[in-house]
Amino acid sequence: MPICLEIEGRIDIDVVCWHCYTDRGDDYRKKGTTLGTYAIAVLAGDGIGPEVTAQGVRVLEAVAERFGHYFKMTEALVGVAAIEAEGDAISHATMRLCQESDAILFGAVGGRSGGVPRMGRDKAGPSYEGPHSRVQPERALFRLRKELALYANLRPIRPFDALLNASTIKADILRGTDLLVVRELTGGIYYGKPSEIRETAQGLEAIDTLVYTEAEIARIVRTAFELARDRRKKVASVDKANVLSSSRLWRRTADLVAADYPDVTLEHLLVDACAMHLIRRPASFDVIVTENMFGDILTDEASMLAGSMGMLPSASLGTRHTAHGLFGLYEPIHGSAPDIAGQEKANPIAAILTVALMLRYSFNLKEEARAIEGAVERIVEAGYRTEDLREEGKKVVGTKEMGRLIVEAVRG
Ligand code: IPM
Ligand code: MG
Repeated sequence: MPICLEIEGRIDIDVVCWHCYTDRGDDYRKKGTTLGTYAIAVLAGDGIGPEVTAQGVRVLEAVAERFGHYFKMTEALVGVAAIEAEGDAISHATMRLCQESDAILFGAVGGRSGGVPRMGRDKAGPSYEGPHSRVQPERALFRLRKELALYANLRPIRPFDALLNASTIKADILRGTDLLVVRELTGGIYYGKPSEIRETAQGLEAIDTLVYTEAEIARIVRTAFELARDRRKKVASVDKANVLSSSRLWRRTADLVAADYPDVTLEHLLVDACAMHLIRRPASFDVIVTENMFGDILTDEASMLAGSMGMLPSASLGTRHTAHGLFGLYEPIHGSAPDIAGQEKANPIAAILTVALMLRYSFNLKEEARAIEGAVERIVEAGYRTEDLREEGKKVVGTKEMGRLIVEAVRG
């Protein structure tokens, strides 16, 4: 199937590529239904997930009030809470709710084990036995991403000026940083089979499988090029082509796709070098496109450019559209952080900026998205910080108070 029907010279209202959609949302919207009513599945999850998601929901309510929208939010369980109450990290009913919604607002999943699979012989607590087990909390995310075909994970990183000194990296190096990581989300080592720990005559051994098809690589690289066209027209494709066959195919495919975008420059980087350049010359990057696990690792590193993991939102998109925009799943990139849960220490800004991405991509509400981003920036500029960004002379506030301040700023 073509990645983008428009590129083939055809547009079909039922199957339209999301980057075309966001440009022409208004045309498509005219064919849609019930403007102004948006169905959102709210999956707060585990650890700090519920407390940061609650602040995202408050901000959404403030947007609804100010701009006259109706967001129909339906909550459901995922992760440890769902395993305990429903016997699976995500139930069929919750999967159906998500499929029937216009967007999913996600918090975080993962229990005290940190989601690390433990062997069944550990009798001390719940035993999470691998990524496809019903009792692995992360399975909720893996199912949502894969079954809803959300292959493009966008993680924008643009440090606020007011936080340049909060980063562990020097302000001079950070200044001007505005990059977008496009992480492939439904392939690679996260999904390859076999993936297991098994008994052999010599003892236990483990195997994971890293597999990519040319089509999977081409569609994510194309997404990156389309996004770069609306930015500074630079793509860095990140791989490990000096070691991995999958990376050699990645590089070759990226070159083929690049031929369709003569206006965009392509740079190939090895992932280890990219990890170094991200903190050496972050401002030189525009769009970075990479496979699933490299994207996971590089975005935790890149989050420190913005001061803390608690600042970074993400959008996971595919090609399905609703009456309002592209269907998507929105989550902060930080995890469930059970060690600080329930202590008013979690930074809700990533969850709140995640709501802004949802408004922009899934509902085509650009002004509303900007209202949230502007409100967050004003509160940070006014000197309010959560615990993760504690700085001399700044006002440290709790999770709820940070949410309240941003809600007030959205109300204007
Ligand atoms: C992320 C997270 C997840 C991932 C975990 C929770 C499975 O780290 O979204 O970056 O590895 O994809
Ligand atoms: Mg991660």
